[in-house]
Amino acid sequence: MTSKLKWIAWVGFWGTLCLNLLIPGRTFAQTKQNTCLDCHSALDGNLQVTADKWATDIHMVKGFVCVDCHGGDPTQMDDKVAMNRAKGFIGAPKGLAIVQMCGKCHSDAAFMKKYSPAERVDQVSEYFTSVHGKRLKDGDINVATCVSCHGVHEIRLVSDPRARVYPLNVADTCGMCHSNPQVMAPYHIKTKQKEDYLKSVHYEALVKKGDLSAPTCNKCHGNHGATPPGIGSVANVCGQCHAVFADLFDKSPHKAAFAKMDLPSCVHCHGNHEIKKPTDDLLGVADGALCVQCHVAGDAGFQQAASMRKGIDQLKSALANSEALITQAEQKGMEVSQPTYDLIEGRQDLTKARTQVHSFNAANVEGDVKEGLKITVRTEEKGRQALSEYQFRRKGLAISLIIILAVIVTLYFKIKDIEHRQKEE
Ligand code: HEC
Ligand code: HEC
Ligand code: HEC
Ligand code: HEC
Ligand code: HEC
Ligand code: HEC
Ligand code: HEC
Ligand code: HEC
Ligand code: HEC
Repeated sequence: MTSKLKWIAWVGFWGTLCLNLLIPGRTFAQTKQNTCLDCHSALDGNLQVTADKWATDIHMVKGFVCVDCHGGDPTQMDDKVAMNRAKGFIGAPKGLAIVQMCGKCHSDAAFMKKYSPAERVDQVSEYFTSVHGKRLKDGDINVATCVSCHGVHEIRLVSDPRARVYPLNVADTCGMCHSNPQVMAPYHIKTKQKEDYLKSVHYEALVKKGDLSAPTCNKCHGNHGATPPGIGSVANVCGQCHAVFADLFDKSPHKAAFAKMDLPSCVHCHGNHEIKKPTDDLLGVADGALCVQCHVAGDAGFQQAASMRKGIDQLKSALANSEALITQAEQKGMEVSQPTYDLIEGRQDLTKARTQVHSFNAANVEGDVKEGLKITVRTEEKGRQALSEYQFRRKGLAISLIIILAVIVTLYFKIKDIEHRQKEE
């Protein structure tokens, strides 16, 4: 042991002891002696584990110390004795040994129950079903292990917004490797997942709208396993959240047709990472519509695609028409709360029609369009009524003004006339 190290350990040991004796209410027995931290907090580079960093770790919070993971003797100032392999010191684990280290506690249901009754203990078993776990077993150490995603010596509760696995931080955590061309080069897979995801409607909902139910990488790919529990394939994950769309698709003629072509369902039309907010232009038979990728003039799908789009456009323009009338009437101070309320329902029918596109049956879209049009007939009528009533009132007002004016003028001349006569008399 070098003299510098001896000195560090000596100061650390006696310093801690003195602090414990000096601070009132704290006794030596209450704080476990931890020469590992005393010495390592003063080391440099990778070997440094500061007390500040360690204080953020959930394991420190739960009362664990270095030796609970690394083994060794935390009462010894001499590094050779403290880090003695004969005393169970295992050093810094690599690859598979990391998973085994974490699994020692996290796969032990009885042990974990003592700390948190609801804590899952399937992380390790799930991990080995993932591409990461399978490759690690085959000796590939470039893949993610427990510490790649959770960090080390500053592991936080997953609910802590500063945790690397907190929803808002996940894309960066996965991106460390998946956006790094050097790490991914040997595997010949894309490195654009994060870049694409950052442009998606999901990222926008999650980050800009703060909607934590919107997915980031792990919601689709699973935390530890290859897919989230209960999902056979990542391509089917959309239905977990968009259940209505998935049900419609499953009952649609596309279900069997896509399976036959070996195509994924939602992902084929919407993509996986760069999912954009869909527009009506995706529907129909014009250039840019998805339907004409496969359907050609004359086939049943082509005809129905055109008619779905026609219905949706019709309802959309009827709604816009009513909206314009009602806004105009409202600006003129007319009472339009009922038609305004009805329009909300009309817009819901438009949303329903767009959802029904996924039944790939024009009659279903037509149904919602008809319901919506019934409402717009009413709202348009109410809007027109309100505007003509306004015109009527304006005319009425003008006429009454003219009458009042006429009366005033008549009175004026009448008075003048009376005055004139009085003077003459
Ligand atoms: C007096 C200082 C000192 C003490 C006490 C000490 N260490 Fe170390 N530790 C070192 C130094 C120096 C190294 C790097 C050289 C080496 O590996 O021996 C090191 C290396 C390590 C490594 C990396 C080993 C590897 O495999 O790469 C780990 C892990 C470690 N220490 C943990 C501990 C733990 C746990 C304790 C307490 C039981 C402890 N240390 C106590 C000084 C110390
Ligand atoms: C929850 C388990 C756990 C605890 C507790 C823990 N470590 Fe570690 N430590 C690890 C793992 C896992 C690694 C390997 C990290 C890696 O490969 O990136 C590691 C690596 C290290 C290394 C080697 C760093 C390097 O890059 O060579 C040192 C030194 C170390 N730990 C010291 C400590 C000290 C000191 C403490 C207590 C303050 C401590 N550890 C507490 C799990 C733990
Ligand atoms: C590819 C990244 C990744 C790897 C590898 C990984 N985790 Fe996780 N872990 C996560 C994510 C993401 C969560 C969930 C965060 C959430 O619930 O929002 C999580 C959650 C957890 C939890 C909280 C309880 C739970 O299961 O939800 C524990 C404990 C945990 N991981 C331990 C481990 C252990 C042990 C390993 C190694 C076998 C490991 N993790 C490997 C990403 C990872
Ligand atoms: C000595 C036992 C032990 C070891 C070894 C251990 N842990 Fe833990 N870990 C715990 C306990 C106990 C908790 C607290 C559980 C709780 O209260 O939610 C915990 C909590 C966690 C949490 C937060 C879980 C949550 O619900 O938010 C994560 C993440 C985690 N550990 C990851 C790891 C990783 C990664 C390793 C390996 C480097 C590891 N643990 C090694 C015992 C251990
Ligand atoms: C430490 C680097 C690292 C981190 C962090 C990491 N991965 Fe990986 N991942 C890899 C490597 C390397 C592969 C192996 C590539 C292969 O076999 O195609 C891989 C494979 C995958 C695969 C399978 C790709 C395929 O071949 O089909 C998926 C999916 C995946 N990772 C998702 C994630 C997600 C999600 C996260 C974050 C929660 C994550 N990874 C974090 C390194 C990492
Ligand atoms: C909305 C769900 C969803 C989200 C969010 C998501 N993915 Fe994917 N990902 C998929 C689907 C679906 C596939 C295609 C799987 C297939 O074809 O089997 C895929 C494929 C992959 C692959 C395999 C290689 C490739 O590009 O085809 C990797 C690696 C991957 N995703 C990583 C990520 C990372 C990293 C993130 C976060 C930045 C992420 N994914 C976010 C659904 C998602
Ligand atoms: C974890 C739940 C979850 C998963 C999994 C998921 N989504 Fe989403 N999705 C959401 C949320 C939340 C929104 C935002 C809703 C909003 O703001 O209107 C959203 C929005 C969308 C939108 C835009 C809707 C609109 O009206 O603007 C589309 C399209 C979409 N998702 C398609 C998919 C596809 C395709 C998949 C599978 C690859 C998928 N989603 C997986 C939760 C999820
Ligand atoms: C054959 C192509 C196709 C498939 C397959 C498909 N969609 Fe769509 N999806 C569309 C089109 C086209 C629109 C736009 C409809 C419109 O706005 O008129 C759309 C719109 C959406 C919307 C937004 C609805 C709104 O209110 O604006 C969501 C969410 C959505 N799809 C989810 C899914 C999910 C989940 C799946 C899988 C179960 C799926 N889609 C499968 C073509 C498809
Ligand atoms: C990937 C190719 C593909 C895309 C894209 C696609 N379809 Fe289809 N569609 C098929 C196949 C294959 C069938 C079943 C064979 C058939 O009956 O023509 C089918 C059947 C249909 C049917 C049932 C026709 C019948 O026989 O009653 C309708 C309706 C339909 N598609 C509408 C659409 C609409 C609307 C879109 C655009 C949003 C669309 N399709 C996009 C391939 C596709």
